[in-house]
Amino acid sequence: MPPYAPDALTRTQPRESQGELTPQAFVHHRPDLIRAALDGIPSDTVSHFVSSWNALPADAYVKAERPYRFRRYGKFHLSQDGLQQVSHGPFLQAKTVNKLSGGVPRHFAPLDDAVATSLALRAIVGALHDQLPGPHQDINACGIHQIRVTAVPGAEGDPAPEGMHQDGHRYVGQVLIRRAGVHGAQSRIYDLDRRLVYQSQLTAPWESIILDDRRVLHDASPVGVAPGTDLAVRDMLLVDFFADPALPAPSPRPLPKGPSHD
Ligand SMILES: [Fe+2]
Repeated sequence: MPPYAPDALTRTQPRESQGELTPQAFVHHRPDLIRAALDGIPSDTVSHFVSSWNALPADAYVKAERPYRFRRYGKFHLSQDGLQQVSHGPFLQAKTVNKLSGGVPRHFAPLDDAVATSLALRAIVGALHDQLPGPHQDINACGIHQIRVTAVPGAEGDPAPEGMHQDGHRYVGQVLIRRAGVHGAQSRIYDLDRRLVYQSQLTAPWESIILDDRRVLHDASPVGVAPGTDLAVRDMLLVDFFADPALPAPSPRPLPKGPSHD
């Protein structure tokens, strides 16, 4: 089945060459994209990857009476040999793109080694990289964010406390890992004039949105609790793609399709 192709932004640029410059500034993929990438990977590897969201520490940079946001972060070089994790460091966004936390290095907990080396992670990043909606010859790095947002009755969780924003990267992949007991949490995309151009609820695991972070803004509406539920959980994998001059230049074909997603 083809990806959703919202037409709100499809006329911003012409298609110039297949796979290098697509007209969409974002694409919403059904779960099939990631499912196909994970095909062939042992099911216990995938379930271990998914269950690792159960062991995320609270995000210390979200000030709230009840911790509702949990996360880990890792940075990788996209090399011909695949994903190579680089030494753990703080995550920094510019103040211009994140008015709440920008300009402040945030020290998130590192990924577990089992996650950082997981075949599932490699397969998912490879699938997203193959679908980047624009030129990406200079992209040589990605950031991996595991994020859980929770809510309880009377206390919503905010997936984007900074509001409508850009992440300050080139492309961003947003992959739904788990959605349980959630009411709300619409993923929303805006043009650069801050007009809403697309919204959708990610409901099925492995549904994903890949966006051109320089051409659109995004946020997600608060996570609420579905009627009759005591706890809402929304787990997301975010993959930031960018060019890092401190890392080796990208290979002509990074992330070769290995046994993880042949
Ligand atoms: Fe974001």
